[in-house]
Amino acid sequence: MTYTNGSTGLLSKFKELFGAVSLGYRAPGRVNLIGEHTDYNGGFVLPAAIGFSCWVAAAAREDAKLTVHSENLNETIEVLLDGNHLHRSRKWSDYPLGVASILQKSGYRLRGANLYIRSEIPLGAGLSSSAALEVGVACALLDLSGYQFERTNVAMLCQRAENEFVGARVGIMDQFVCCNAQAAHVLLLDCRSLEYRAVPFPEGVQIVVCNTMVKHEHGDGEYNARRRECEQGVQRLSTVLPGIQALRDVSSRDLENNRKLLSDTAYRRCRHVITENERVPKAAVALERGDLAMVGKLMADSHHSLRDDYEVSCPELDLMVDLATKQPGVHGARMTGGGFGGCTVNLVDRASTSEFKRHIKEKYTAATGRRPDVFVCDTSEGVERIPLGAVEPATRTLQP
Ligand code: GLA
Repeated sequence: MTYTNGSTGLLSKFKELFGAVSLGYRAPGRVNLIGEHTDYNGGFVLPAAIGFSCWVAAAAREDAKLTVHSENLNETIEVLLDGNHLHRSRKWSDYPLGVASILQKSGYRLRGANLYIRSEIPLGAGLSSSAALEVGVACALLDLSGYQFERTNVAMLCQRAENEFVGARVGIMDQFVCCNAQAAHVLLLDCRSLEYRAVPFPEGVQIVVCNTMVKHEHGDGEYNARRRECEQGVQRLSTVLPGIQALRDVSSRDLENNRKLLSDTAYRRCRHVITENERVPKAAVALERGDLAMVGKLMADSHHSLRDDYEVSCPELDLMVDLATKQPGVHGARMTGGGFGGCTVNLVDRASTSEFKRHIKEKYTAATGRRPDVFVCDTSEGVERIPLGAVEPATRTLQP
């Protein structure tokens, strides 16, 4: 098992609130090594699931109500599971309700359910706490309602929930890796075909995530704006490059040759996506060959491109990357996730992680007054059903 004991006490808490529990799911957060803002452009990404998870304990109800309790926020919501009662409220509950709504719209007949949710994934830090919540809830609801489900299909339904119900036009990366990740590997995912390859993560190196503690609160609007800019870029370029569907179909040379068609901002947005897309397969090959110097260079180029061309970094992320690259034993560092705050991802020699942690905490706090969380992360499997007995032996009798 790669995960911590984040499920301890989960079932007894559920029991206190709702009575007997019948199943549980663990859905992991993720970190992306490279390939940022490429997913919704039909491109490549290279994420891994991490050992911080969202845990969902669940039981069916006799009526048609859905009750969801968030342990982190100590809040419970209750709705009637018919299409008319599921509305967006711009709160955390939009994620579970969005999932229920999309599942129903897709033809699944859901039973009423009680869900108890605990998340260890820092919220709003760019580690996919929302995708993990969506995926955990989707698996629990489908399972309780008697459906066999397929992982990639769950990922697509959850992405739809976020796009159509929550209103964030995210790509498929987070939900996909949450569903399909493999421990000790990163996934090279083609976000257009959804074909993927598991690339072994090098031994002796660890993923270290540094949280700037700057929340990407206004990120949603900016995120959707970037996505629009990319679509507009494709529209302009398609006047001379017929047949292109997405920036995935445009090469750096095509972009340079047609630069005059685009405003400076549009040109830089497109340049980020196109060059980033070229970097991802290169990084996967370098990782496979154990060429960590090349991986590190590609990560640095990615960060600069996100900072200067895509403009989704912030001073704290830049500082965090800068501090990391000055440390011994560090192969690569960059911002990860949507940006505007959140975390950096760092590849650090196992032997250097303690020193790295100490140094980053000290220097970052001195420079910003914020105390960063620094996590040394294990990679993890994708979403999985929790063996209830194994998690909490005392509640074994509660199994169906
Ligand atoms: C967020 C989105 C993803 C992806 C990243 C940026 O995490 O949910 O779909 O677009 O931003 O790479």
